[in-house]
Amino acid sequence: MWRDEQGIAHVFRDVCPHRLAPLSLGTCIDGNLRCPYHGWTFDRDGSCVDIPALGRDATYPPRAKLTAPAGVYESHGMIFIAPEEPLTPRPVVTAASDPAMMRGDIPVDTTRGGAGLLADNFLDMAHFPFVHVNTFGADEVREVPPYAVTRDGYRFEAVYEHEFANREDPLVATGEHPLIQRRRLTYRYTAPFHLELDIHFLDTGGTNVIGFFLTPVDDEHVRVYSSLWRNDVDGDTERMREAVDFEVAVIGEDIALQSRFGQLTLPLDPTIEVHTRADKTTIELRRILADLCAAATA
Ligand code: FES
Ligand SMILES: [Fe+2]
Repeated sequence: MWRDEQGIAHVFRDVCPHRLAPLSLGTCIDGNLRCPYHGWTFDRDGSCVDIPALGRDATYPPRAKLTAPAGVYESHGMIFIAPEEPLTPRPVVTAASDPAMMRGDIPVDTTRGGAGLLADNFLDMAHFPFVHVNTFGADEVREVPPYAVTRDGYRFEAVYEHEFANREDPLVATGEHPLIQRRRLTYRYTAPFHLELDIHFLDTGGTNVIGFFLTPVDDEHVRVYSSLWRNDVDGDTERMREAVDFEVAVIGEDIALQSRFGQLTLPLDPTIEVHTRADKTTIELRRILADLCAAATA
């Protein structure tokens, strides 16, 4: 993957058609990519434009061409690659195009874990008072009130409103705001592993969005990409850094448990686990992933 002078990302399989050397070790020259081994050079369409060993005015073999993925898509600070024609819609984070929102990126981490299990964990609300006791969970109510999940193809959205203790609000200390305030949590999921939590503070008007994007690495490891978007830090990079640090601690609490699971696959057969009405988001996750697996193997 490389960017040309206009900043557009070009992506090809990491294999040179000549002697299969890794092109990712190559060099970008004038918007083209030169293989590190014998210097074959490819343009942004993947066509060969130079084979130094053949000298000037040579004709190049027709198969001297790079293999491109079906699609490349850049959005909200990430580049998505579809090796084959994708079945799922392109992921969008609406907050990313809102100029009032400031973005902070959590350092990318690869951990022992299952992508399906981490997605399940992100969508789960009932674990807050138990897993997150050292960050935000101590005050969280244990009961998960009824909420609605709306599915749209390979996506869903779940909305629920509840009361919480807002210890971050400076006007609580002065008595201008009550400690117990209301917030609306909107979970958005796009299969397979693109997740978003939009936290809207109904009493103070601020919005925090947490994006959580997963790439399975192998059967035992997953790479975690996460970003925050906030409209309540007034462009203050120090406050944003504190928010990122806090989120790193929250994710750390989750990973500490998730990485210890013996079985790292998410069961898609609904009879394997026990479900309750508090698990509606994570049941929908399993349904959508089961449908996606069926469509992918059809
Ligand atoms: S392997 Fe790439 S130029 Fe020979
Ligand atoms: Fe969590």
